[in-house]
Amino acid sequence: MSASTPLLAHLESEPDISNAQYVGRTTCTRKNWRWRFLLLALFGTVVTVILGRNIYVATTSYTAQYVLFGRTKLSLSLADAEAVVHDTLAKLNLARNWSYEYTQDLHRTGESRRLVDWTLEKFKEYGLSDTKVETYYVYTNKPVDNALKLVEDGKVTFEASLKEDSIAEDPSTLNNTIPVYHAYSASGNVSSSYFYANYGRREDYQALVARGYNLTGKIAIVRYQGLLRGLKVKFAEEVGAAGVVMYSDPSEDGDHTTQNGYKMYPEGPAKQDSSVQRGSVMFLTEGAGDPTTPGYASRKNAKREDPLKFIPKIPSLPVSQRDITPILKKLNGIGPKASSFGKDWTGKLEGYDYSIGLTLKDKHVSPVLNLYNEQNYEIVPIHNVLGTIPGQVSEEVIVFGNHRDAWIRGGAGDPNSGSAIMLEVMRALQVAIAKGYKPYRTIVFASWDGEEYGLLGSTEWAEDHSAWIQKKVVAYVNIDTGVSGSSLLMGASPLVKEVMLNATKQVNYPKGGTMYDHYVDGPLKGEVPYLGSGSDFAVFVSHLGVPAFEADFFNDPSTDPVYHYHSIYDSFHWMDKYCDPGFIYHNTMAQYYSKNLLQLSGREFLPLSPDFYADEIDRYISESLKQVPTDWYHYENDEFSFEIENGRTFHEAISDHRPAHDKPLRHRKPPHRKIKDFTDAVKATKEAVKYLQRQARLAVAERNQCQTKLNAKPGHLWDRVKLMSRLSVINAKFNLLERVFLHSGGLDDRPWFKHIMFASGRYTGYDGQAIPGFQEAVEDNDKKKGLKWLNILWTKIMLAGFMLSA
Ligand SMILES: *[C@@H]1O[C@H](CO)[C@@H](O)[C@H](O)[C@H]1NC(C)=O
Ligand SMILES: *[C@@H]1O[C@H](CO)[C@@H](O)[C@H](O)[C@H]1NC(C)=O
Ligand SMILES: *[C@@H]1O[C@H](CO)[C@@H](O)[C@H](O)[C@H]1NC(C)=O
Ligand SMILES: *[C@@H]1O[C@H](CO)[C@@H](O)[C@H](O)[C@H]1NC(C)=O
Ligand SMILES: *[C@@H]1O[C@H](CO)[C@@H](O)[C@H](O)[C@H]1NC(C)=O
Repeated sequence: MSASTPLLAHLESEPDISNAQYVGRTTCTRKNWRWRFLLLALFGTVVTVILGRNIYVATTSYTAQYVLFGRTKLSLSLADAEAVVHDTLAKLNLARNWSYEYTQDLHRTGESRRLVDWTLEKFKEYGLSDTKVETYYVYTNKPVDNALKLVEDGKVTFEASLKEDSIAEDPSTLNNTIPVYHAYSASGNVSSSYFYANYGRREDYQALVARGYNLTGKIAIVRYQGLLRGLKVKFAEEVGAAGVVMYSDPSEDGDHTTQNGYKMYPEGPAKQDSSVQRGSVMFLTEGAGDPTTPGYASRKNAKREDPLKFIPKIPSLPVSQRDITPILKKLNGIGPKASSFGKDWTGKLEGYDYSIGLTLKDKHVSPVLNLYNEQNYEIVPIHNVLGTIPGQVSEEVIVFGNHRDAWIRGGAGDPNSGSAIMLEVMRALQVAIAKGYKPYRTIVFASWDGEEYGLLGSTEWAEDHSAWIQKKVVAYVNIDTGVSGSSLLMGASPLVKEVMLNATKQVNYPKGGTMYDHYVDGPLKGEVPYLGSGSDFAVFVSHLGVPAFEADFFNDPSTDPVYHYHSIYDSFHWMDKYCDPGFIYHNTMAQYYSKNLLQLSGREFLPLSPDFYADEIDRYISESLKQVPTDWYHYENDEFSFEIENGRTFHEAISDHRPAHDKPLRHRKPPHRKIKDFTDAVKATKEAVKYLQRQARLAVAERNQCQTKLNAKPGHLWDRVKLMSRLSVINAKFNLLERVFLHSGGLDDRPWFKHIMFASGRYTGYDGQAIPGFQEAVEDNDKKKGLKWLNILWTKIMLAGFMLSA
């Protein structure tokens, strides 16, 4: 669009708003004395209003007390607090003690009142205020009975043990009576022939169907890894399979295998071959939390909905490598080799030749598998433990969460390495606080229940307190399995990437250098991927629009001893002897998370990075546009005139995302723009991104300037008031930014996912997907949907830019 009006000519990188319609412009031409007087009076009023507003913000808002008294009262600065915290953790490491405590009794979803009380006591002991237990009532299953039998010529020739071995020197594996099972699996008793379907990815099943195999009524055997567990069942259901068996293939174990001469746990670092990966088969790509209360809290008398959109209809069982071997061996020589479907179809199971087990006419007399699974469903209480470190302001809050529940008695890695680290962080912060430190922002600590079943505790709590969270929570910090190996892995919303990467430069890695040096040397070369799903951050990121991050030392099986994920061998004994002797990696993570919390909460400015975010958005859109089919570019559909929220004012549109927003934002009428065709829509969107990038840089520059001036400790009270008033408005905008990207209708067919910039990938689950609405339209070659999502992106990006400039 060329000929812009002279007024707009200077706005080189502004979006094209030459079609913009402004409402409410007035002109004034008469110039008699009365008008002059009126103008003067008006000017006076305006000045009074502006001054008054500053005074109002300064005195009634949370900043007042802080500006007037807060800063000078502190006897410990942020830098001093960082030093105290560092020394506290360097001098004494109690992670081993906490790990031991957390791994003494079975604490699945809703279990172990002892650990609820013990955690609450610890929160109190470390000086948290407002400590409490919040209970929700969730729909869950417990196993009643199961069996997996090989039947040949009507006779049972093999029965899987469905049990992990007890090991004398590992006490938490003794008296193991919990059957192996999947959370939210369906009950059923299926007898049928069976086939190997690789990872159980959508494309794995489709490849089999494409070759003409009939999967209807058969049992799929899939190996773990590659995608979310529940999706392996969902996609099996879609091709008509009657049940799914999941097993742990030795291909997961890197170099630490018995084939390579390593001894099995507990004698060595190789996998205990009876170990089983339990887990949830909830469809986290559809949402999270109690599947009978999507989008609202599972209070005691909550209305319950049909959960079947979120959980499978066919039964599934997890089994060990040892149990599956005789079953898969029976497929040797039946049908084509898995390798004919792709290089990544073959695992490393000994004795199995990776034949698919299917023939086109079902002519062979194949062995029959009997999969029997009986689950009892009921509503049970779960318990989150919460506590607070009050900041100098209560209007900006950081939530730091870790789930407490594990699949088994142990859980030394998942999740209680995180629990031990969280207590260490709390202990160290408490020492700094006792010496006179008070963070600027408030920190809430949460010990979630029910994560393993489907992120239940965090999701129900967040849905319950959504208005409060959307108003006050500036970032959610997650720690799940803090230590299961020695390789750093991070994931983050772009807004918090910079602050979390910064902290890695300030903490030493146990094997030398900083955590940052180690991360840059690692497989991701310093990249921090955005978050998908699979842990407690999901509700914050995808449903409520709160930026989040997590970090962990994950298990790299080529260097670390094999991690028995969700197995009874994820035990204190394994952690203490093989994974983290001396609990050094726990201690490093405690240093790291403390640093992060201090930097997020300790400075007046909110250290979010909208500039970084805008650049990421630019990248997501450019990458997605590269995949758009050329015929889309001439597509016209005037259903989608690009305008912001049906002509409502920007302020109205924004306030949707922030209930009872208390910071004044400038009222302004945003433009709308007529779109000719898809080409034009792309152009408008690119302009909007440029506009956002520019506004984000300006806002960050202004924020940094304010903080620099504030750091210089201006002597005049009025200067401090002005700076703090401005900074609090900038903070409010940065806080609001992520919420602008929520779309009330949610993603197509996935209404729980409100965030338009990322979601759990619909075919992967754990991995995130950027600009999911648009990207899915491209993948489905649906240009109408593509234009719809471009329209939504344009609107939100414009809103974000306007908001930052307001
Ligand atoms: C931590 O464990 C060690 C070794 O078991 C013990 O000596 C010490 O008293 C424990 N400390 C605390 C604070 O629990
Ligand atoms: C296992 O059960 C036996 C017999 O009930 C009991 O004596 C023993 O203390 C239990 N061991 C553990 C580690 O709980
Ligand atoms: C499950 O089905 C098998 C084979 O049809 C049958 O032998 C077995 O008794 C059934 N089990 C139960 C508990 O119904
Ligand atoms: C696939 O198998 C099912 C169950 O045996 C059968 O009902 C169906 O007709 C078969 N479909 C085709 C296309 O052969
Ligand atoms: C990260 O560190 C750099 C260099 O020390 C600093 O300029 C920047 O403000 C930090 N960013 C955040 C978000 O803390």
